[in-house]
Amino acid sequence: MTIPRTPSDPAGYGPGAYGLPSEAEIASWASVWFPELGGRGEVSPLGRTPAAALPPLRPTPLCGEDPATPPAFAALPELPWSGAPPGSQPDAVVPRVLPVGAKEREFPLLPTARPADLSLSRSVGNKSLAAIRGDFPILGKQINGHDLVWLDNAATTQRPRAVIDRLTHFYEQENSNVHRAAHTLAARATDALEEARKTIARFIGAPSPENIVFVRGTTEGINLVAQAYVKQFLKPGDEIILTMLEHHANIVPWQLIAEETGACIRVAPIDQTGQLILSAYEKLFNRRTRFVAVSQVSNALGTITPVAELAALAHAQGVRILIDGAQAVSHLPVNVSALDADWYVFSGHKIFGPTGIGVLYGTKEVLEAARPYQGGGNMIADVTFERTLYQGPPAKFEAGTGNIADAVGLGAALAYVDAIGMEHIARWEQELVEYGMKALAGVPGLRLVGTAPHKASVLSFVLDRYPNEEVGKFLNTKGIAVRAGHHCAQPVLRFLGLEGTVRPSVAFYNTFEELDRLAEALYALTGRRE
Ligand code: ALA
Repeated sequence: MTIPRTPSDPAGYGPGAYGLPSEAEIASWASVWFPELGGRGEVSPLGRTPAAALPPLRPTPLCGEDPATPPAFAALPELPWSGAPPGSQPDAVVPRVLPVGAKEREFPLLPTARPADLSLSRSVGNKSLAAIRGDFPILGKQINGHDLVWLDNAATTQRPRAVIDRLTHFYEQENSNVHRAAHTLAARATDALEEARKTIARFIGAPSPENIVFVRGTTEGINLVAQAYVKQFLKPGDEIILTMLEHHANIVPWQLIAEETGACIRVAPIDQTGQLILSAYEKLFNRRTRFVAVSQVSNALGTITPVAELAALAHAQGVRILIDGAQAVSHLPVNVSALDADWYVFSGHKIFGPTGIGVLYGTKEVLEAARPYQGGGNMIADVTFERTLYQGPPAKFEAGTGNIADAVGLGAALAYVDAIGMEHIARWEQELVEYGMKALAGVPGLRLVGTAPHKASVLSFVLDRYPNEEVGKFLNTKGIAVRAGHHCAQPVLRFLGLEGTVRPSVAFYNTFEELDRLAEALYALTGRRE
């Protein structure tokens, strides 16, 4: 078995290091991880956390007879990106579209070889990419003497003028608290907030604005569902299913309620490309399964998971599902009704809206079954010292004064992308991802991390001999912004034998030329080509 060494740890994050298991032990576990191979697939990557690097682990609430058993180390194969593997099915939601002339192109295209205005003359929907970029003031700025190349969209997206202006308008013309006061500005602010709720409901295909709860972001939305809905149903030995792909925000809230209730967590595995193993997911269900929480797009690898199928499989077992759409909504058309999601959650700032505002969608049934998350003003119908009567959803979950202006700004962001069309955005981004994967794959010593056939936005990689942080800092000197590190997704990276990656991530305002600049900078860094 080959054990990968990570660039940030040339000494080797391998067998025997840091008190990790020996190669012989690993070999003996090799059959454990994947059910297809005869294993149970229910151990967690938490069991292999380097003992010397972290404080002692608390007992992890994992399901199974031997929760201490670590999974096999996964050797990451050299997988040059070559698009969808032969025989793979086209994406059901977003058709894969190769860039025009992609097969003839050399990657990366150096400036001398590149046709002028290769992407800026392109349109996304009926708007030119040049006009779209003009809508985002920050994209025209210089950083460290270079035109900014914003490729940190998985961490946060940039805001169009429409959102910036909407916030200014709110504070100049409409600012007030909502619902309570009977004056003109209160009415304006209330109308603006409720209009945003309607826009959001339409954007994600919710049956009614009453299905839309404003939260701080994805993290708060998931914590709300865990604490206010799922926890009340849990008994010792009950099980929650997650996937290996999850962000910490879709792991830790479930660990918290598992610890409190005696429930435990099962983890659906992925393969070496980062693709979820659907058959293994299906096998995790049993009579103790109480809830499923899955990402629609992995923030570290970009893998798109088949959430409609995951929901259908859960529902066939009588189990409700939460879909973490934080990395999906700005890249794919989302219709929560078509997906049959019980809960769907996303953050405003990842879809060109403000920070500090997010959306929790729930069906009428689950919203009514959930207890209040926080108590206070706004969420009550009547209060005495003896008892309180609550409002119905969504007010039941919106205690206190919310982030009114930013909710209104989020409505403006969704109206902006809706006018361009999420189908068009998804198609263009698919071209960008294909182009970027090919451009990066040519850089000497570069290994792509996350090569599932269906992926969105994320172009994670590691570069032989270069620590991730060093690569990120070098790119910054060229005006290129990427995230380097563990991306709050340590379990999936450790499953792939890594502690971190360099993570460029595209949005629909990015261009082929920017991806060329990224590849050119990496060639310059490695000294193999200027
Ligand atoms: N969740 C964000 C990311 O993936 C912050 O970078």
